[in-house]
Amino acid sequence: MKNKIVAGNWKMNTSFSEAEDLLVAIAEGINDMILETDIIVCPPFPYLEMAADVSEESGFLVGAQNVSSEKAGAYTGEISATMLKSAGADFCIVGHSERRIHFNESDEMLIKKVNNLLDEDIIPIFCIGEQLAERESNKQFQVVENQLNNTLFHLPESDFERIIIAYEPVWAIGTGKTATPQQAQEMHAHIRKLIEEKYNLKTAYSTYILYGGSCNSKNALELFACQDVDGGLIGGASLKAEEFIEIINAAETCIKNN
Ligand code: 13P
Repeated sequence: MKNKIVAGNWKMNTSFSEAEDLLVAIAEGINDMILETDIIVCPPFPYLEMAADVSEESGFLVGAQNVSSEKAGAYTGEISATMLKSAGADFCIVGHSERRIHFNESDEMLIKKVNNLLDEDIIPIFCIGEQLAERESNKQFQVVENQLNNTLFHLPESDFERIIIAYEPVWAIGTGKTATPQQAQEMHAHIRKLIEEKYNLKTAYSTYILYGGSCNSKNALELFACQDVDGGLIGGASLKAEEFIEIINAAETCIKNN
C-alpha cells in the first residue's frame, strides 16, 4: 500500500497573525511524529512564503489554492505559476468547485492552469465531483468521467503521472454531509478504472486520489481505510491545528494497519 496524503485547503480564511499561529501549531504538532503521510498545507497567497519558511523546519509541504491561466504580463491581480514556485509552493489546487461555480472557471481555463503548473514543476491537486442534483439523478459517474475527459485525459502519461486527483462531491463541501465510505470507495474505484482504461494499470495504481468534503477527525479513519482513498483534501477541519493533526493521525493509523 502506498502512503497517504493529507492536504489542508484553508480557503479564504485567517489573518496574517492567525496564519502564522496555525502554521506554527501544525509544525509543532507534527514535530515528534515519524510521518509516513505527506502533509500539504494550502494557505491563501499572501502567506505562502511564510508557510514555506515554517515548512523548512518542519515536515509539511506547501501548496497554493489557485493559479492564473495566463503566464505573465498585463493581467492585474493575477498570480502566475512562476510566482507560486518562487514563493515556495510545490503544489496547487486546481478546478475546485468553488472556483468553477463562483468564478466561472471553464474547462479551457483549467487545462491552461494545469499546463502552467506542470511547466513550473508544481503538482496540481485537481478537483472533480458532482453536484447534488447530479447524484440524485444517479449521474455522478458520468459527470466525473466527463470532467476527466474534458480537462485531464489529453495529457500524455508522463504528465498525468504528476497529477493528484481530489474527488470532492459538491454536496459534501462545507455541509457536514460527508460521503459514506461506500460512496467514496465506489467513486474512487471508478476514477481509478477510468485512469487504467485511458493509461494503464501502473498509472492507475500510482495516482493519488484524495477525498474532500466535510472530512474531519471523526470520519477520517473510516474514509482513509477505503482501498482506493489515498487521503484527504480538508477544508474547515484544516483550520484547527489539533483537528488537522488528528486527521493526519488517522492517515498514519491506516498506513500502519496495512
Ligand atoms: P470542507 O472540508 O470544509 O467540507 O471543504 C472541503 C474542500 O472543499 C476542500 O477543498
